[in-house]
Amino acid sequence: MALVSFHDVEKAFGTVKAVDGVSFVIADGEFVCLLGPSGCGKTTTLRLIAGLEKPTAGSIRIGEREVTQLAAKDRDVGMVFQDYALYPHMSIGENIGYPLKVRKVAPNERDRRVAEVSEHLQIGDLLARRPGQISGGQQQRTSVARAVVHKPQVFLFDEPLSNLDAKLRLEARSFLKHLQRELGVTAVYVTHDQAEAMAIADRIAVMHEGKIVQIGPPLEVYRHPATTFVANFLGNPPMNMLRFQVHSGQRPSLASDAAQLPLRAETAAWLVADVGEGGELIVGVRPEHLRLEARATPGTLSGEPYAVETLGPESLVTLRFDGTLVTVRLFSDEPPDVDSVVHLGLDEAKMHFFRTGGERIERA
Ligand SMILES: Nc1ncnc2c1ncn2[C@@H]1O[C@H](COP(=O)(O)OP(=O)(O)OP(=O)(O)O)[C@@H](O)[C@H]1O
Ligand SMILES: [Mg+2]
Repeated sequence: MALVSFHDVEKAFGTVKAVDGVSFVIADGEFVCLLGPSGCGKTTTLRLIAGLEKPTAGSIRIGEREVTQLAAKDRDVGMVFQDYALYPHMSIGENIGYPLKVRKVAPNERDRRVAEVSEHLQIGDLLARRPGQISGGQQQRTSVARAVVHKPQVFLFDEPLSNLDAKLRLEARSFLKHLQRELGVTAVYVTHDQAEAMAIADRIAVMHEGKIVQIGPPLEVYRHPATTFVANFLGNPPMNMLRFQVHSGQRPSLASDAAQLPLRAETAAWLVADVGEGGELIVGVRPEHLRLEARATPGTLSGEPYAVETLGPESLVTLRFDGTLVTVRLFSDEPPDVDSVVHLGLDEAKMHFFRTGGERIERA
């Protein structure tokens, strides 16, 4: 069936390695999001799957077939491009029906399938118009209709929702997920919106500078980020990152000029085994895992308030601590009472530990 796999795939444009030694296996029927900042190689990865680019090294399989050198038209994929890439001189109906025409499907069957899919996407009354005569959101749905009309084995989506307003975006997101489930196809979906990836994906592949730095189910990646880059990229506001030195011995602790946090001896031991006695490390804590405390105690962080934002169901309190900003998320619709000094409580179990180079320190 239609699994998609990359084996050590590389794509260089001159000296730029847009994709740099990427391997993965996407299961049949799975929905995978490629997530990463601009320029990290997401579109290039999709174009390699579609056959619009040929790799400079490595191999690609779709289903049972090795497709590395196969032309785009001979691969059974449907793609929604970042800019939709609709044919301006064709009507909406002709745009949607184009993949069927290329595949020599008879005209009445073609009309039937175009009508069915456009009805589904609520653009059935626009079929006679040209792309220039419909809205951005309608163009986007036309592009989706064209990608799915021939029921490909693999859907490829390149930031398909980026031009939609927030409300339409949420609707379209649920719709795409529903459609993919209903048709049981494999989907690879590119986005740089972490919330969208969390919401829609079976697995998220986080990309950075042409490489996949972590791949896994959304909550696993969120709860167990492999690097500070991944930790920062997933979650809004992002994970707080604080520098400390770790000490074991009589008083195991995390120490900095601004605070001294007691640690369990066992935790200090495996951290010291990694970074050395007194070694520097980065402690990551998500905003939702901090809490406001009434007073300073051993183990709290204290700082002056920087901003208080009430967002409706929750509030964000940001304070200055040790030269960095630290944000706390409070799940309350009551604006928090913030004094001139704010104390934060945090639990060791909720801390993430990273080397100063960014890699997660695993519990020994
Ligand atoms: N045809 C090309 N020729 C030369 N360089 C290219 C080409 N296509 C992509 N690149 C380069 O490869 C890198 C990855 O580009 P790609 O378009 O895959 O990024 P992306 O993750 O999709 O970014 P965005 O989020 O901005 O769409 C970038 O440095 C880009 O400039
Ligand atoms: Mg792109």
